[in-house]
Amino acid sequence: MTDLWSDRADAYRHSAIHAAGEDLDLVVEWCEPGPGVTVLDVATGGGHVARRLREAGATVVTTDPAPGMGADTTAPAESLPFADGSFDAVACRLAAHHFADVLTAVKEMARVARGRVVICDNTFVSESSEEADRLRDPSHVRNYGEAEWESFFELAGLTIAEERHFTRPLEIEPWLARVECTGEDAARVRELLGDRVVDGWMPLPTLVLKGVK
Ligand SMILES: C[S@@+](CC[C@H](N)C(=O)[O-])C[C@H]1O[C@@H](n2cnc3c(N)ncnc32)[C@H](O)[C@@H]1O
Repeated sequence: MTDLWSDRADAYRHSAIHAAGEDLDLVVEWCEPGPGVTVLDVATGGGHVARRLREAGATVVTTDPAPGMGADTTAPAESLPFADGSFDAVACRLAAHHFADVLTAVKEMARVARGRVVICDNTFVSESSEEADRLRDPSHVRNYGEAEWESFFELAGLTIAEERHFTRPLEIEPWLARVECTGEDAARVRELLGDRVVDGWMPLPTLVLKGVK
């Protein structure tokens, strides 16, 4: 999996839906960045959360298991190589649906945070949408619903301080191209998504949660 992600590194660095958005603004705001504030960006990918946090004055460490992402540390979210309470805040955006063990990952983020954990991810729509996601990208594990996210935070010992829903517009063709999903597979993905797609765009429900210790 990590080699696959390394091959995709440039696509994620230049992806419009990753580089900006209301969800990115909120993740940054809820980390409360500023001079003297330390933040760990988990599953940094193209580094958009880290870039924005640094622009806001925070000291940021990045981590990602794919060497090609060029993070400060190469590690999965399920096993973070940091001592307990190492960072004021821990952020993780648009990545948890790829984690093999999401609860262990949330517990790890809570462990290495001394203040707050901010997680943003797409949420569950339907089983056929999940099938479309897995066919497009076999590294997709699952989008979780709001109640599942709330239980992950609770089981990790985090109190939910903030929670916001967004609908992000996703353009289907660049989304397929980013992971080189073409031909019959792409046709089947479009079929599985059905009338969620209108004029080449699909609304993506997204949740941002802020937990405090
Ligand atoms: C869509 S990209 C992340 C986007 C990025 N956080 C942003 O806001 O632009 C997904 C990332 O998750 C990483 N990833 C996949 N499995 C992971 C795991 N188990 N733990 C941590 N990161 C993982 C991939 O290497 C990839 O860089």
